[in-house]
Amino acid sequence: MTDTQRFDVLSKLGVNKKRKMLTSEITQIAKSEEQVAVPLNARNVSKETLLEVVNLSVDFVTIDGRTRVLNDVSFHVDQGEFVGIVGESGSGKTTLGLAVLRLLDSPPAHVVSGKIRFEDKEVMKLTNSHLAEVRGTGMNMIFQESLISLNPVYRAESQIKESLDVVNNARKILETDGERRKKMIRVLNDLCLDQPELVLKKYPHELSGGMRQRIAIAMSIIEEPKLLILDEPVVRDCV
Ligand SMILES: Nc1ncnc2c1ncn2[C@@H]1O[C@H](COP(=O)(O)OP(=O)(O)OP(=O)(O)O)[C@@H](O)[C@H]1O
Ligand SMILES: [Mg+2]
Repeated sequence: MTDTQRFDVLSKLGVNKKRKMLTSEITQIAKSEEQVAVPLNARNVSKETLLEVVNLSVDFVTIDGRTRVLNDVSFHVDQGEFVGIVGESGSGKTTLGLAVLRLLDSPPAHVVSGKIRFEDKEVMKLTNSHLAEVRGTGMNMIFQESLISLNPVYRAESQIKESLDVVNNARKILETDGERRKKMIRVLNDLCLDQPELVLKKYPHELSGGMRQRIAIAMSIIEEPKLLILDEPVVRDCV
């Protein structure tokens, strides 16, 4: 997405900068009028609610005491829909994304109340193996800190390949090494990475911040999740 497109989406979402500065809670959960193109593999699926969050409250408990970070948050995301979460720094946007994927460490986080439903599944009640199925091809998150997603001791290629294997296993697709490589290079090209073949051979510390970020984004989108949570990823458009 280009900066202009991102600005367009935020404008359409009606982001109100003044309100944003007035509170330390999440200010707005807004929906774009514009629908995202429904992915090819979902063409025959009718529009339905993918994610529903109801009255979610989360506290962090530290030596300084208990702090309510998410206070009764409710929203839903339908298939093919953009939903923007707006709030000042520290208002709980990342916490909300992590809570939806059940990635919050407890302690210090405590889910005080609320329900999270993804498709027909109650996320809070899923066993670890069902949770692993839902993450990846179900819902996935591009983290604000892209380094969190990368393992420093593996080359970029094996990290993206691991993500691709998740989707291939889930969909029972068998691909040759050549086919997988082609797919990885196509995704990196889409993300405007120069010389993707060379980049695939590098370890994270050999890449620039922007390159690492693109690798992390590639790992998420190559799994073709039904719902993608973007925590401030910033990739510029190709020039
Ligand atoms: N592991 C943690 N332990 C204790 N407090 C935490 C922890 N993680 C986050 N917090 C607190 O929760 C609040 C919300 O943090 P969060 O990272 O969700 O904000 P954010 O809206 O994503 O901010 P930003 O826009 O700066 O990324 C902050 O006050 C933060 O200090
Ligand atoms: Mg954040």
